[in-house]
This record gives sequence, structure tokens and C-alpha cells, in this order.
Amino acid sequence: MALIGVFDSGVGGLSILDEALRQLPDHDYLYFADSANAPYGERSPEWIAQRSLSICQSLADAGCQAIVVACNTATAEAIQHIRATLQTIPIIGVEPGIKPAALQSQKGLVGVLATEATLKSDKFNALLGTLPGDCRFVKQAGAGLVPLIESGQLHAPETTALLAQHLQPMRTAGIDTLVLGCTHYPFLMPLILNLMGSSVLIVDTSQAVVRQLARQLETHRIPIEVVGKRSLLLLSTADGARLHSMAMQLLRSDLAQFHIEFKTVDPERAEL
Ligand code: DGL
Repeated sequence: MALIGVFDSGVGGLSILDEALRQLPDHDYLYFADSANAPYGERSPEWIAQRSLSICQSLADAGCQAIVVACNTATAEAIQHIRATLQTIPIIGVEPGIKPAALQSQKGLVGVLATEATLKSDKFNALLGTLPGDCRFVKQAGAGLVPLIESGQLHAPETTALLAQHLQPMRTAGIDTLVLGCTHYPFLMPLILNLMGSSVLIVDTSQAVVRQLARQLETHRIPIEVVGKRSLLLLSTADGARLHSMAMQLLRSDLAQFHIEFKTVDPERAEL
């Protein structure tokens, strides 16, 4: 029986989990939201690396056969470290889709909305350095958005105002393509479309991440065993019941075949 761990600083990784439940419904899932410590995007690279590794270690100890680091910030700062430590299981990360965006942008003008930590990271800047110089990127840290999303204020006037402020430099520059470089941001899609207009292409990598997970499961010959209901365990370091209610609100995939449970875990002890 395949158990897949999905980890994020909070509810953002539910956007990746949703896609995984849609593309790969015949597995069991363990979703870990470190909401007591969100946002990660304004923390130091060392803190993010250490915390992300200890959570992934716990997911591996709990029997996960593959782990999706469903957080751009944790991927940028920790994925090499996690892969080097947990060598026997596939670790799949998420990165802002700047390469597909550069290829698809007609004007060569791309906006990137991500956390400050992601935009400052060596990994992001190294990726940027591999892209052709004729594409211009307007980068913007989405400071303050993650706490609003974590508290469920997806349509609040405060959220719209902050998002409008962050997107203004991109609107002024006239971008035609926008990369969502944080897994929390797809939950703001209606507001983003409203502010940017439907002609702007939005690049979100969740489908590609799950296709990569599927490839890794195949490569590692992780079996699918379709017997009865699958299980989905939602773990939060802040409040399991709240994570459960947000998941019920945010997930769009068919949950009928999943037995869903939730639990609050002690943020100080990464044991699951
Ligand atoms: N969802 C995360 C990401 O993709 C991190 C958000 C945060 O905790 O700052 O970057």
C-alpha cells in the first residue's frame, strides 16, 4: 500500500494535494501543515532547511514511501538537504514555473509572485540565470498574503487590497504571463483573475508536480493496491480541526472514496 506524504508550511500545499487526489486517487495520503510556524517565507534559510528536514524525516518515519515538498520556499532552501538525508525515498519539490512562463510569454514580460525567501534563494536565482536574457521578469514578494490565506480570508477586502498592491508593478509593466510561485496563491485565483484580467496567462505548476510524482512512483515501483477506501490523514501543528474544515472548503477533487481523519500535532515534537 503506497502512502504519500505532502508537506507545506500551512494550507498552501492543499493545492498540490488536490491535484494529487485527482491524478493519483489510488494511494493513501498524509498531509502535514506546519501552520503554527507559517509563514516560512519571511524566515531564515537555515531555519527553513532545518525545520523542513525534520518534518520530512517524521513523514518518512511514519511510513511515507514518497514525499512531496508542496512548498516553493521549503523546496528552494531544503530540498537538496532532504534528498541527501532521506536517500531511499523519492522527494518531489515545487518550483516557480519561470521556464514554461518564459517560453509562453508573447511579450517576454513575466510576473513572478512568490515569497521573499523563494525570490532571494540561490536555487531560484540559479534557475533564473539559465533562462534567455530576452525575457524580463517582474518579481514581487507577496508579503502578508500567506497569513490572510491561512486565516481563511480568501475574499476579504483586506486581501484584495494587499494583492492589488503586490500586483500593481506587474500591471504597470504590462506583463502577459504571471507565475504563482507559492502554493498558497492558487487559492486567490478569482481575485488574481479579477485584478489582472483574463488575458494574462497564469502559470501554476501543480499539475506538472503531480505528473513528476507519478513518474517517481513508477520508477521506484511503488505499488497501487485498490482495496476499499483510501485514507487521507490531515495533520496540523496549529489546529487539526481547522485544517480539516479548510481542506473541505478548498479541495475540489472527489473525496468520496477517502476516509478522512485529522489530528493536531505538537509543533515541538515532530513525531506523528
Ligand atoms: N506555501 C509556501 C510556498 O509555496 C510557503 C508560504 C509561507 O509559509 O510563506 O512558498
